[in-house]
Amino acid sequence: MKFKNKKILLGITGSIAIYKAADLLRKLTKNYGADVQVIMTNSALRFMSPLVFETFSGKNVYSSIFDEGYVGTRHIDFAKEADIVLICPATANIIAKAASGIADDLLSTIILAAGTKTVFAPAMNVNMYKNPATMENMDKLKKIGYGFIDSETGMLACNDIGKGKLTNIDKILEYLNMTLNGTNKLKGKKVLVTAGPTREYLDPVRYISNRSSGKMGLALAEEAKKEGAEVLLVTGPVSIDIPNDLETIKVESAIEMRDTLIQNSDSVDFLFMAAAIEDLCPAEYIDTKIKKNDTITEIPIKLAPDIVSEFRQKNKKTCIVGFSVEMNDGKERSINKMQKKGLDYIVWNNPKDDGVGFEHDTNEVTLFSQNGHEWFLSKNSKRNIAENIIKIITESGKNK
Ligand SMILES: Cc1cc2nc3c(=O)[nH]c(=O)nc-3n(C[C@H](O)[C@H](O)[C@H](O)COP(=O)(O)O)c2cc1C
Repeated sequence: MKFKNKKILLGITGSIAIYKAADLLRKLTKNYGADVQVIMTNSALRFMSPLVFETFSGKNVYSSIFDEGYVGTRHIDFAKEADIVLICPATANIIAKAASGIADDLLSTIILAAGTKTVFAPAMNVNMYKNPATMENMDKLKKIGYGFIDSETGMLACNDIGKGKLTNIDKILEYLNMTLNGTNKLKGKKVLVTAGPTREYLDPVRYISNRSSGKMGLALAEEAKKEGAEVLLVTGPVSIDIPNDLETIKVESAIEMRDTLIQNSDSVDFLFMAAAIEDLCPAEYIDTKIKKNDTITEIPIKLAPDIVSEFRQKNKKTCIVGFSVEMNDGKERSINKMQKKGLDYIVWNNPKDDGVGFEHDTNEVTLFSQNGHEWFLSKNSKRNIAENIIKIITESGKNK
């Protein structure tokens, strides 16, 4: 297990299990080389001195949004920089605040800004844990896509016996290892991922496009990289942050997307076509801006090139995973598309469902394979959906 170059934000809250966080931090930094920034709540400061955590992390511990000599928006910087935000131990209170979107101190504000890269390791009394309010808060966060390393049953600090005990440190380390390092499922494999929309220009300032944010494609690219693949991301215009260490080619139109994919098609093991390539292109490009008083009453349309079919013609060996956004008869239409275009798998999502598809951080999809298998992946963060798609495909192989 190695966490060198991994940035972990460790959020510590006011639970009696705090003493275990000191040992966790010591292992993370001293044994596994992680770069850990500790944030403590005001309650946590009542339980243990920040000196302990400063010593093991080699950094200042922060608790307040407002002082301590930082110029700028520290909560946003911390949230962005971290590869993972681990709340350990996580009180009932911090879970409730996160579930309600409350941001009234440094840690809760970081959690709100970091979103689904946050994972909670809850620790509390059994009655607090079993209280429907806490259960609902945890369910709500899980549905949004937050991670949980669940508590265990045992003797609690208050002498009650029941669920609520912070899970053991090795399990937390194992979770971090899986999330940050993967298990090299794609080691030695070449993976091409497309993401985002394309823009089909009518004149130099107007275009037809769609709402794709590129989040699903980026999640797949990051997961594939984590699993040891050599990854190339080909993305249309998106406003999400793409990590500097992810090899990326930016394109605008469907034609540019096609040319880039064909140029990079050699010896690709897996192609994930998560881009929403705009099907409708203006039939003609007018090279000066169309004026208001030009007498245009309709825009003739032609279809974009069928990129994935062209790729399949060029490269028969690649395992191709297509994506479909379909509302009515979605299952049949998706399977037809998979067969018609010679895909190995297709991932279908129905944007009618809440928190699914375009722009959201979460998704809910059904994956179909050529040989008639189907897997329903219930609503979760796009990273989690990407992780599961890769897991299924690497276990099932091409054309299964
Ligand atoms: C001795 C002691 C132990 C506590 N242990 C826990 C605990 O394990 N889990 C929990 O949710 N709250 C626990 N609490 C209550 C929290 O500290 C309290 O709800 C506090 O407001 C949490 O603030 P924070 O979430 O901002 O850290 C404990 C309080 C005391 C005095």
